[in-house]
Amino acid sequence: MDPQYINLRIYTENPCVFCQDNFFVSPKVKTDETLSMFFSPLFFLKKKRNTEKFLAKCAEEYGETFSLYIFGKIETFVGSRLSPEVFKNDKDFNFDIAFKEKFPMEAFMDRADKYFAPLPRIIFTYLSQQLPSYTERVQRTLTKAINEQIGDGAVLQPPLKTFQLIIARPIAASLLGEELSEDKELVHTVAYASSDFIPFLSIPPFLDFIYPLLHQKFMILLFKVFTNPFKVHREVIKRKLTPVLEKRLNDMKRDGESYVPPVDILQKLIELIIEDDYKVDIDILTDYVITAIFAATHTTSTFLTNSTHKFANHPEIQKELLEEQERLLKNKSGPYYTSEQIDSLVKLDSFFKETLRMTTSIVFFEHKALNPYTFSSGHQIPKGRHVTTRLQEVHREEESQGENPNEFNFLRHVGAPAPRVEKNFLAFSFGKHACPGRYFATSEIKTALHFLLLNYNIKTVNDEIAIPQIKGPYRFSSDVGLVFEKRKDI
Ligand code: HEM
Repeated sequence: MDPQYINLRIYTENPCVFCQDNFFVSPKVKTDETLSMFFSPLFFLKKKRNTEKFLAKCAEEYGETFSLYIFGKIETFVGSRLSPEVFKNDKDFNFDIAFKEKFPMEAFMDRADKYFAPLPRIIFTYLSQQLPSYTERVQRTLTKAINEQIGDGAVLQPPLKTFQLIIARPIAASLLGEELSEDKELVHTVAYASSDFIPFLSIPPFLDFIYPLLHQKFMILLFKVFTNPFKVHREVIKRKLTPVLEKRLNDMKRDGESYVPPVDILQKLIELIIEDDYKVDIDILTDYVITAIFAATHTTSTFLTNSTHKFANHPEIQKELLEEQERLLKNKSGPYYTSEQIDSLVKLDSFFKETLRMTTSIVFFEHKALNPYTFSSGHQIPKGRHVTTRLQEVHREEESQGENPNEFNFLRHVGAPAPRVEKNFLAFSFGKHACPGRYFATSEIKTALHFLLLNYNIKTVNDEIAIPQIKGPYRFSSDVGLVFEKRKDI
């Protein structure tokens, strides 16, 4: 049966806000039916805990694809069957434009659109593809940070804050060089620059009810005019980078062809923007660095926290995971593992991937339709429509994920490494915008987990089961405390 063209009316609880849209819906809906959906614009605030249920109910009633009226605009939701079309088809769907409507990063910095476009390639080529050059540094800085923060044992409550500080050390060392990773003020900025932003990102876009994109303009004004965490962290980075940059430029000038460049992302950024007479604009360099930090720290520390909670939640898997770590420890010949040895931790890799699968957000990856588009199912959307993936549905589908997809099975992914990009595993996205730091992030998290599991008995405070917090359609790490008790038998 052909999809039917129907008139979909969506009302909000506020009678002043009314929207009518012509929309193709599932063949199951009869032609002459008018859908009336009473739907609050405060949905994501009020129905905090019910997002999961609400979206499941919509899918049950309207099928794979349906649209909701949210904060002044209609948003179409797709599930596992149609989402690959959105990710693969970058002529018709754009992630960047939709993302920048909410988070106009370049505008906050007074930079032109797509200013930082070279960054993903630099991260992928010089970090993810050069992992062996960073393996020792990551281990050295991680063990130092773990010793400083947890030492002979500690209770971390909430754990994310401490994991951010731990993760910031190897990230600072890899992006900016090991020397800067010793600087406490800089490490603090690397740890918290992105999470200090979250309260600003959580401001609901009520202004979009008045005029489309008014919220975006308000945010830009807020960031440019008022003191905010972004400005403060940016200042720290600029101040710390200035002498390092001066020294590197002097050395480059002095040594010419024989200059041996440091191995880090900072050096690649300098080479990208350097001018003929050994001049580099420190503001441009700072903005590149803060953009990289934004992408790297909060994500990595969130999933390290979630993984540690999952480990504590599941005592039945601990022995087997621990045995793998102890086996590697026995095979250690020098002070550091090689990157192949870290890769060989296949159970830990699968455990981390299962954590990603189970703790990513309920919906994510909003794309903007650049043209009117007809999905392979026959559903049509107009140009300008935002299309969002029901990520949880993709990650919990039996056909692609295997038996009992709602259960945590730490060996589910053995043989399918965590950073591998697949259409049914979207934690690192898929297609053109797949995370360029995913190999580095996976290796860093596995290394951190390896040391934590070997050195501590880990449990939650009062043996509470830690469940990620749901705020609207997003998941955030649980605040349930973690107890680290130093192992005496190691
Ligand atoms: C577990 C850790 C990580 C996860 C789950 C993750 C996930 C993602 C996802 C889903 C995207 C796609 C776009 C988006 O939603 O923003 C992305 C983009 C990106 N990630 Fe990651 N990421 C992680 C760690 C890192 C690290 C450590 C780095 C850098 C060292 C990094 C650098 C980037 C960059 C530069 C982009 C933008 C790519 C583009 O615009 O084409 N990420 N990441």
